[in-house]
Amino acid sequence: MNQTIAEKLRADARIAQAKKLLESAAAEYRDQICEIRPPNPHLVAEYKSMLDRLAVARGGAPYFPFIGSGLGNGPFVELADGSVKLDFIVGIGVHGMGHSHPAMLASTVDAAMEDTIMQGNLQQNAPSLTMAERLIELGNRHGAQLAHCLLSTSGAMANENSLKIAFHNRFPASRVICIDNCFAGRSLALAQLTDRPAYRTGLPKTLDVDFIPMFHPADPKGTTAGALSTLKKLLERHPGEYACLWLELVAGEGGYYPGTPEYFEGLCKICHEHKVLIIFDEVQTFTRLSQPYAFQHFGLDKYADIVTIGKITQVCATLYREELKPKGPILSQTFTGATASILAGLAVLNELESKRCFGNDGWNMERASFFKSRMEKLAQQYPTKISGPYGEGMMMAFQAGSGDGEQAKKAIFDLYEAGLMGFVAGSNPTRIRFLPSPAVVTKEHLSLACDIIEEVICKR
Ligand SMILES: Cc1ncc(COP(=O)(O)O)c(C=O)c1O
Repeated sequence: MNQTIAEKLRADARIAQAKKLLESAAAEYRDQICEIRPPNPHLVAEYKSMLDRLAVARGGAPYFPFIGSGLGNGPFVELADGSVKLDFIVGIGVHGMGHSHPAMLASTVDAAMEDTIMQGNLQQNAPSLTMAERLIELGNRHGAQLAHCLLSTSGAMANENSLKIAFHNRFPASRVICIDNCFAGRSLALAQLTDRPAYRTGLPKTLDVDFIPMFHPADPKGTTAGALSTLKKLLERHPGEYACLWLELVAGEGGYYPGTPEYFEGLCKICHEHKVLIIFDEVQTFTRLSQPYAFQHFGLDKYADIVTIGKITQVCATLYREELKPKGPILSQTFTGATASILAGLAVLNELESKRCFGNDGWNMERASFFKSRMEKLAQQYPTKISGPYGEGMMMAFQAGSGDGEQAKKAIFDLYEAGLMGFVAGSNPTRIRFLPSPAVVTKEHLSLACDIIEEVICKR
């Protein structure tokens, strides 16, 4: 009586049966993908031709000669040439449950039973509401006061929305403060926040952005004091002109440099005294540290004015405080996310919480400390070959040799050839980073990765 027709459809036993049938078929094949494998010689020529065509179609070769077959198992992924890699970069931190997870399949079937592929401004179904409320609830667990959550389809769009909210609320302030090494995304505005001149080649200047020094563990006191004094100078030089301070709590693309609570607290406090809003860009950090949000990990809840997330949640979002709610129609989109993305994102969050990824002794930190101790041993054993590890939680990195860019790239490709996928981060030094899937990666997988690093980087 009190059910919609859609609810009756979702409760129909045939849907559950279909899901079971699909999962049992998928499991049969998925389970065959459980170790690193070389390519199937019969598929090599066709694979090469696909790669060549891909390079033409997309206007350049992809970074790795990678085309997925469409099937994997946890951290293992099968390529279209039949080879299997241990995927520790997961599309740059996106596949939180690894490859071909049963919960991902189930949520995609649920999405297929919804009436629309995409949700958006005029088409909000219950999954959008569930996701927005879930992200707000997770964000406010330790005292932050995030009232609203706007979904979007990319980290860049979530970040654009966050900038708009900040400027709108601090008009006519038009400047932004960032930390050295910042990366914020690929839109015209965000290219200005990104501390990589090459990423702005040929692009017009769209915003005034000033940079302050990053925290460095080699000189915690000096770098913290340096950042605070630069911030104070900027605020004196441009009084009333700054709308926001942009913080990536672990610099991602910049090289996996976490700050400390003291470093961030000092900056945030001064900014709040000057009515400068704090934006936490958590597109890469979200769910990878001891708490769902990195600002919770660093104890910065009271400074969370605007927060953006993305990647692992499959759909991205901008969260903000009540008093920052825009007074004009500055935020709107045809698409806020695919139904499948939103449901899969919810499945990722469920999985991360049920696996107890969070907490000081949760999976994330436990696995991070396991990786750290293995890598520290390697660094001691082969001091000229590797150093580190660096990063925080499930954002892991190390340095090969001197950290020279070409050497790092060569190391990445040698690891790839040996079956381990990572990626570079930062410059001077360039590090090698991993973003393993938090919900599925085990100590055995981490151990296997360390064995490959030893074989490929340390022993050669
Ligand atoms: C910290 C950070 N912000 C923003 C972005 C941009 O996200 P997207 O590529 O989804 O637009 C990224 C992507 O790597 C990121 O790491």
